[in-house]
Amino acid sequence: MTGGTTIKVAVNGYGVIGKRVADAVAQQPDMDLVGVADVAADWRTRMPATKGIALYAADPAHADTMRAAGLALAGDLDALLAASDIVIDCTPKRIAAGNVEKYRKTGIRFIVHGGEKHSVTGHSFVAEANYETALGRDSTRVVSCNTTSIVRTLSALKRTGLLGSARGTLLRRATDPWESHLGGIMNTLVPEPEIPSHQGPDAQSVDPDLDVVTMALKVPQTLAHLHYWSIRMPRKASKDEVLDAFRASSRIALIRMADGLGALNAVKEMMADFGRPNDSLYEVALWEDMLKVQGDELFYAYMVDNQAIVIPETIDAIRALTGAEADGAASMARTNEALGVGAFGLAPGHA
Ligand SMILES: NC(=O)c1ccc[n+]([C@@H]2O[C@H](COP(=O)([O-])OP(=O)(O)OC[C@H]3O[C@@H](n4cnc5c(N)ncnc54)[C@H](O)[C@@H]3O)[C@@H](O)[C@H]2O)c1
Repeated sequence: MTGGTTIKVAVNGYGVIGKRVADAVAQQPDMDLVGVADVAADWRTRMPATKGIALYAADPAHADTMRAAGLALAGDLDALLAASDIVIDCTPKRIAAGNVEKYRKTGIRFIVHGGEKHSVTGHSFVAEANYETALGRDSTRVVSCNTTSIVRTLSALKRTGLLGSARGTLLRRATDPWESHLGGIMNTLVPEPEIPSHQGPDAQSVDPDLDVVTMALKVPQTLAHLHYWSIRMPRKASKDEVLDAFRASSRIALIRMADGLGALNAVKEMMADFGRPNDSLYEVALWEDMLKVQGDELFYAYMVDNQAIVIPETIDAIRALTGAEADGAASMARTNEALGVGAFGLAPGHA
């Protein structure tokens, strides 16, 4: 770190993930958001000024267009990196890989996101599974939304000795809501061409011991992903044992059909009512009353808010890489408190 008691954080790419990461960083008492960089010159890059966040030009080729659009620029990416301890690259798929050389030359620690391959950093991160292995590294990759959910849930079963093999079907949202006028699918379902889909092998980049196979398809809606899982447990177990395993994770929230949470839109509405920024569901929302145990077989379904789930992981990855917190559980507790993760008491009678 460059000194002082707070971690100085830069965000490169102020889109769906970048703006949520920036807001979450600003909520952490032990972090300072130095600024955000982007190349866009429209309403999206006007937002940082409304929040008192400094905006930098990520690419000199776009700086003039940004200034011409009336955006006040605090400087270029080099200036942002020079003032920061760590940069969170939230640029679109595969652009971050091209930025890595600059980060390495500058000597700044960096985090990339799930659009990049594991090989870009050689380490893939999910806080509950492998926080400690990221300690002091120069870089990591916070895995994709789907992969984060898979590792969170399967790790919870693994920690309690309830995980044998895991087979999942992923119904993936077609595109993000803000850009759904620009693309997406209608009146069809689009299966991924290969089995396994990439998320299962990706989960193994965090935990190579997972026996996991995924299949995926795209569905014509934008709210969130929905997963169905079938698990072979090493032994017979009760439904309560399984629920206790999931309850032990602060990043899995058990929800109930019986509470009226019978679909993705209802859960999103509840997040809005909780006053969460961008209606964010940071947890995996798993239906406890739908969950079924049959001998040594376990079946369940859950919702993944693709725009939100990786945000707490990114905050923890910042503490791990900078070595600001050696204990993963302690970092997660701080992140959870700042973002309100796990504070989702729900209906009366909810265990
Ligand atoms: N959208 C999701 O649901 C989601 C979920 C989990 C992980 N991710 C991953 O997060 C990363 C970011 O995805 P996103 O959905 O936020 O993308 P996005 O397209 O919403 O945002 C990307 C931002 O980067 C900016 N940008 C483009 N080129 C740039 C450059 N050269 N330098 C700096 N900024 C540049 C764009 O203007 C935009 O504001 C990707 O790796 C993606 O796979 C996305």
